[in-house]
Amino acid sequence: MARIAYVNGRYAPINDPAIGIEDRGFQFADGVYEVWLVKGGVFQDHAGHMARLKRSLTELRIPMPMSEASLDIALAETLRRNRLNNALVYLQVTRGVAKRDHAFPASPVRPTIVITARPLSMAASEKRAETGIDVITRPDERWKRCDIKSVSLLPNVLAKQAARESGAYEAWLIDADGFITEGSSSNAWIVTPEGVLVTRKADHGILNGVTRLRIMRIAKSLGLSFEERAFSLEEALSAREAFISSASSLVMPVVRVDGRPIANGAPGSLASALREAYLAGAEA
Ligand code: PDD
Repeated sequence: MARIAYVNGRYAPINDPAIGIEDRGFQFADGVYEVWLVKGGVFQDHAGHMARLKRSLTELRIPMPMSEASLDIALAETLRRNRLNNALVYLQVTRGVAKRDHAFPASPVRPTIVITARPLSMAASEKRAETGIDVITRPDERWKRCDIKSVSLLPNVLAKQAARESGAYEAWLIDADGFITEGSSSNAWIVTPEGVLVTRKADHGILNGVTRLRIMRIAKSLGLSFEERAFSLEEALSAREAFISSASSLVMPVVRVDGRPIANGAPGSLASALREAYLAGAEA
């Protein structure tokens, strides 16, 4: 079955040409996106993704392309037309099509909106979580507004490719002060030797992950000690556990950083418990 995409009000085969050549998303990465995990047909953390989408659009002064209710219908319909139950649903909104000029179009243009869905194997994700993943570290070479979920992702792309080429799953990005900001497409977490859960504060240096916020709610409900602060590579290497979080990886244990094992090199119990709680629908 050909994959179906939603493009500006129409449902079309994903390979049909449908976006204008002068779309500002294509020419300037002038757009934002969201990725939802859909599990058992249910969009996870829907309200959180919608709130972040609106925030990203507001920060870039791109209008919401349609009402939230219409957007909900288009998201659900895209999933339905692709006959998916467990999926990643991708939404992109760009400033629209206009004659190429760095400044915003002089008269308002209609934002471009695209939705796609692809299957996600929960079995493969579970298998990966059982062994845990390797991460490598790279300098954080991104701009200073990483809180905006913009499609301008070139440094993230290069970092992820470096990870792949060294056999790792993710790259952790290190800021000028030696602290880990986040992964190329995920948030970074450690558990200290004292059992405190640590992740960086959500300022302009990281994307405030919707999964990150969900884990914070779960941690609170479980009565876990928790700190939002920066941590260095050295601290990560002496941590009791480490893991990443994102819509696509949920909670994924990290067992090696730059080839050096975290604790005994096996997934940690807290990461596994948080993943289980997430999958069981805790604090959804
Ligand atoms: N990535 N940090 C970055 C840089 C990200 O790209 C992502 C998500 C996250 C985690 O956010 P969330 O928990 O809301 O998924 C953190 C998505 C999944 C992607 O680009 O595919």
